[in-house]
Amino acid sequence: MGGRIFTDRRVFEETYVPDILPVRDKEAEMLLNRYTSRFSEGPGATDITVIYGSIGRVGIGKTTLAKYVAHALQEHLRRRGVNLRPVYINVYGAPSVHQILSGIVSELGINVPVRGTAAIEMLKAITDYLYIKDSYALVVLDEFQSLLMSTRVSNEDLYMLLRVYEEIPPKDNVNRLNFLLVSQDFKVLSYMKERIPQVESQIGFKVYLKPYTADELRAILEQRASLGLADSAWSHDIIDMISDYYGYSETKGGDGSARRAILALRMAAEMAEAEGAIRITEEHVRRAISTDAISNVPLDVMRSLNIHELLILLAISTLIAAKGGWLSTGEIKGEYESLARAYGEEPRRHTQFYEYLKDLSNLGLLESRVTNLPQRGRTTMVRLPPEIPADRLREVVESIIMDRVGGPKISP
Ligand SMILES: Nc1ncnc2c1ncn2[C@@H]1O[C@H](COP(=O)(O)OP(=O)(O)OP(=O)(O)O)[C@@H](O)[C@H]1O
Ligand SMILES: [Mg+2]
Repeated sequence: MGGRIFTDRRVFEETYVPDILPVRDKEAEMLLNRYTSRFSEGPGATDITVIYGSIGRVGIGKTTLAKYVAHALQEHLRRRGVNLRPVYINVYGAPSVHQILSGIVSELGINVPVRGTAAIEMLKAITDYLYIKDSYALVVLDEFQSLLMSTRVSNEDLYMLLRVYEEIPPKDNVNRLNFLLVSQDFKVLSYMKERIPQVESQIGFKVYLKPYTADELRAILEQRASLGLADSAWSHDIIDMISDYYGYSETKGGDGSARRAILALRMAAEMAEAEGAIRITEEHVRRAISTDAISNVPLDVMRSLNIHELLILLAISTLIAAKGGWLSTGEIKGEYESLARAYGEEPRRHTQFYEYLKDLSNLGLLESRVTNLPQRGRTTMVRLPPEIPADRLREVVESIIMDRVGGPKISP
């Protein structure tokens, strides 16, 4: 079997960068113009660009934009007879400046022993090499915040790296080593101000990226689908389902991650292919999304719950799977009591029950809010966090309970 769904699996790989950016193209264009005009300003013209997002926002295209710009710039300048080499280095975990320079040396293919050579000597070798070859390098330092937050990398080291031309004045006054910094969030700017103010004041461009909206994800997914899937295997409907689910907006749900959206499409495609289906159906997408969502559920946390907490979670997921929405605590208590009896457990009393509800919500397994109901006054309402699909949660909880005490003794 196989071959009916996928035409090119490579486009679903994490590190794949498309030749054309369907979104973020304006940011890319702007950065390209910026660098190109910098290059035509002549000798010594240099600046530093920072791409960043908001804390916790992952998969929003920071790395992709940086890599794309570095490669597009290479193409762009090649046509003008300028040789620029893109270099990508992920500095997560804060390697020493020596290690970073070794990375640059090996990416550029410079013949200098990295062991036993001092950082400053390596830096010299790099600038000499670029001078002799009449070349430039654009070095992308990804996860740059990691370097700034590290105490192992000194401010002097950072200055040496990012202000090479001060340290080693270029022979022809042309700065050939340029940096594009990528960071998780805006704190990078204040850290830079604190640690390396002279570099911070030199940032030419700050590009802030927001999580992707549903429309943006749609464009990204349609591109991937047409590059990697057979035409007959996918439809706009399934793309819509995925992008609506992951799309970010001020008011609802999705976290705006292109990574998760692409992964969901890939999983749905894998499921279709494994079944020997000729096309990806809504059901495949539903399963892919819920597999992804359930992977958010901390299984180890769930395994640490006692039987009553598990039964309460079972009650809630059963009710929500059946009717959705917010549940009153009374409603949950009723369902919990009948489930407890069915499993042969003595239901816990009022106070203990509320204690457990609070614990579950502290663990992030529940969301609660207080509302004013016309008849009953202030009542606590509960639901599952939106990223946890109720029916999948129920399956998981049931299986943990099954391991613990066996199945229900009487049907609930
Ligand atoms: N504008 C885009 N066009 C096409 N594909 C994109 C775009 N933005 C992101 N992607 C894809 O989404 C995935 C995640 O993007 P990327 O790695 O750039 O996110 P990130 O913001 O760097 O995430 P993290 O914070 O985890 O490092 C990649 O597979 C990438 O190819
Ligand atoms: Mg990244």
